[in-house]
Order: sequence, then structure tokens, then C-alpha cells
Amino acid sequence: MEVIIKPNASEASVLGAKIIAQQIRRKPATTLGLATGSTPLKLYRELVRMHKTEKLSFARVRTFNLDEYVGLDPRHPASYNAFMRENLFDLVNIRKTNIHIPSGLARDIPKYCAEYEKKIRKCGGIDLQLLGIGTDGHIGFNEPSSSFASRTRIKSLTEKTIKDNADFFDDPREVPRHVITMGVGTIMDSRTCVLLAFGAKKAEIIARMVEGPVTAMVPATALQFHPSAVVIVDEAAAAALTRRDYYRWVYENKPQWQTYE
Ligand code: PGA
Repeated sequence: MEVIIKPNASEASVLGAKIIAQQIRRKPATTLGLATGSTPLKLYRELVRMHKTEKLSFARVRTFNLDEYVGLDPRHPASYNAFMRENLFDLVNIRKTNIHIPSGLARDIPKYCAEYEKKIRKCGGIDLQLLGIGTDGHIGFNEPSSSFASRTRIKSLTEKTIKDNADFFDDPREVPRHVITMGVGTIMDSRTCVLLAFGAKKAEIIARMVEGPVTAMVPATALQFHPSAVVIVDEAAAAALTRRDYYRWVYENKPQWQTYE
């Protein structure tokens, strides 16, 4: 796992966007795995800026989102479908047919999830998966005790996640109890994972993810087994890492050909 500590969320987001842009420029028909939530907002803003001012083209990019709330219409303002349109898809030159977001209105959910997995495979697998992390250690909506072998499926949210996500809804009682999420196994199949986390409230879980024992009780610890996982945090989210000076030293001394900036 590569841990990169940036002074603040803005600089961390710019670096995350640079890594994604590098991937798209190297392989224009890239398949991206995308995340929602408050964490990737600045990164998407930076990608939009790169599209507008640096000719970053999404014309051949295909995307698969991690998750969606069950029962929410894609037009509902708190749906991840609406989030993605508002923060990225309506602002860049991506083709609508290249966008995949789980449908919260799927009738036969197991069948729908199996088809989602099939579509990912048909697109050649995910080249780069963007991730946030929940305060309980979830990636996607894989809550504690999710199998590391899990694939796209329905999950019930924990009370903590429902509370964390209530801000996005007018009425906290509106937060759906169920979601469709890619599994930990689906995420682990992506060629590269880029996980972002900002703020003091993520410090403890980041330390457990990077330096703690691997356990399904912290699903993000599966990334310790990923051959290419990059974790980009701000100072506040890095505060509980015992080896933060080492991660800084490693980043500052990377060979030129391995750098992102
Ligand atoms: P956040 O959520 O970006 O809103 O903190 C992250 C997550 O739950 O994965």
C-alpha cells in the first residue's frame, strides 16, 4: 500500500485527479470505478477543470459506480445517480452509454447484480477504482463482516452509516436501509485502487486500514492484499498513523519514473 500525505484535502484531491488523468491519457478507453460521498467532490471538480482547460477527454472512458441506494429513483436528489450527473457526468464529454451506476429500482436484484458484474468483465475489468472509506471501515457499502470474496449484491446499512449519510437527505428518516454495492472481491479485481480520506474523523479508521490487522471487521484492510493500492490522505486523516514519517520519506524519495506530479 502506498500512503501519500498531503497538507490538505484540496492538494490531495488534485493529486488523485492527476493519477486518474494520467491513466486516461495513457489508455483513453480506460474503465474507471467511481465513488460518491463528500470525499471525491474536489477530485471531480479538478477532473472537470482538466477537461475544460487541459483537453482531458472522457470520450472513450467507461465508468462503473460502486453503489446505489435501493428504492431511490435515479432522479431523487440524494441518489448516487443524481450525484454523479451533477458533479461529473453532465460536465465532461462522457458518452451516456458508457456510464454504469447500479439501479436502485432493479426488480430482480440478484439477477441485476450478476449482470453488473458481467458488464464489468465485458469492459475488460476496472483499470482504476476510486474509493472513499466509511468511519466503520467500509469500502463501497461493504459494511463490517462483508466477505473479502463478495461480489456486487444487496447489503443492509449499519446504523452508523445511515447516520453518517443522513446529511444528504432532507429528512434523516428518508435514508434507505439497503443498497446495491460492488463487493470487496469486485473492488480487489480492479488493477489499481486509489482511496482518499480527509479530516480528523477518518484518522482512526485510516490507521486501522493501513497498519492494523487484516479483518473482515474492517473491510478496507483487504486492500493490504491489493498489488496496487494508493491511499491519499490529508494531515488530519494521517494523524493516527504510527509510520507517517516513513510514508512521507518514501514519497519524497521515489524514483522520478514512479512519480505522479
Ligand atoms: P464520505 O463517505 O466521503 O461522505 O466520508 C465515504 C464512504 O462512506 O465511503
